[in-house]
Amino acid sequence: MQKRTFMDTEERADHEAAVPKIQKYPLTSFKGSGDTSTKRLKLSSESQEGKSNLERQYFTSYEDLGVHLEMIRDVSRTNTYRLAILKSFDKIAGKVVADIGAGTGILSCFCVQAGARKVYAIEASSIAEKAKEVIIQNKMDDKIEIIKGRVEEINLPEKVDVIVSEWMGYSLLYESMLNSVICARDKWLKAGGWMLPSSAHIFIAPFTDDSVQQERVDYWKKTADLYGVDMSCLVPHAKKSLTNHIQIELIEDCDLIARACKCIDLDLNTVQEKDLKQIQGRFHFDCFGSDKLSGFVTWFTTAFNSVDPDKEPVLLSTAPSSQPTHWRQSLMYLEDSIDVQQGTTLEGSVTLSPNPSNARFLDVNLRFTIDGKDEKSNVYQLNDGLP
Ligand SMILES: C[S@@+](CC[C@H](N)C(=O)[O-])C[C@H]1O[C@@H](n2cnc3c(N)ncnc32)[C@H](O)[C@@H]1O
Repeated sequence: MQKRTFMDTEERADHEAAVPKIQKYPLTSFKGSGDTSTKRLKLSSESQEGKSNLERQYFTSYEDLGVHLEMIRDVSRTNTYRLAILKSFDKIAGKVVADIGAGTGILSCFCVQAGARKVYAIEASSIAEKAKEVIIQNKMDDKIEIIKGRVEEINLPEKVDVIVSEWMGYSLLYESMLNSVICARDKWLKAGGWMLPSSAHIFIAPFTDDSVQQERVDYWKKTADLYGVDMSCLVPHAKKSLTNHIQIELIEDCDLIARACKCIDLDLNTVQEKDLKQIQGRFHFDCFGSDKLSGFVTWFTTAFNSVDPDKEPVLLSTAPSSQPTHWRQSLMYLEDSIDVQQGTTLEGSVTLSPNPSNARFLDVNLRFTIDGKDEKSNVYQLNDGLP
């Protein structure tokens, strides 16, 4: 029986419409700034001026309402936060909350709905002004105080009982916003305070799928027939770009060729900034059957623990088997696909670290062996799309 390797065009279009691609700290956020690519690269230097320019660009990317619309209409994301906050009412009612990176203020409003006495909504970008309007419209301005500024640079008048934040980027750690959440936790959370979410987990699985390869690489072979201009010399460049960068795409569960493996766990109560400088997870897969290994895919979940330890946490999942989210999945393509059989073992590690020239970008180092031999490794970048 022919194995279906990806959604057909119509199904895929439906999926894509559900999770539009413009999103927070978009990969293209530096484009259109008037800078040439070279200039942008120069901006990435570790000089102090370079760093503060990058920070400015980061917060500028959150000024526009469009980015916030895309996040809020990601129903899986927004409803999971809503449910998790409302279910945490025993921790929130009558208590003080800090909303780290409040954006338009929606999570702060959920906290008031859960009974919070006071919410400090901290937001560094100018979207904070729009949040103020939302809070007034919802008559919550007696409970929510918008503080415009960077978490790292401001002070709160008191400690807080709960910290809530939606800090996750592509591949979980793109954007490096978790550092700011850790900073807030260490500055303001009371002993025994509550983190929402409380943990995050990265999963990895091998997959088969050549549709992206066909769309992005093989297309260059078709232009001679289509337009009378042979552009096949671009095939190696397209392949390099595909295999050097993480591809943010939706993949189907049926394209996984082994059971997924949870390779990284982060406890938000204890994780330290230094832990995020290099995070490594290991994996071992036994392949399901004869197939072509195209690469490895990662996704993440975040868990909101219940106050009652016997109750299941609320889970926000970005897995291929879950409702699609704007984070999609993170695909790492191999240069050439590899034939695998039932029981072929794939063993190795995945290491995530901030890019040395721009700490908001992410480098992922993948290493693996096939049946204990043929070690392969590659570094994939998640940046603003520059090859
Ligand atoms: C992913 S958005 C979430 C927005 C909102 N909480 C929501 O769920 O719709 C993250 C927001 O955090 C803000 N942010 C990121 N780092 C920050 C920092 N260090 N201090 C203050 N705000 C920050 C960004 O400007 C952005 O608006």
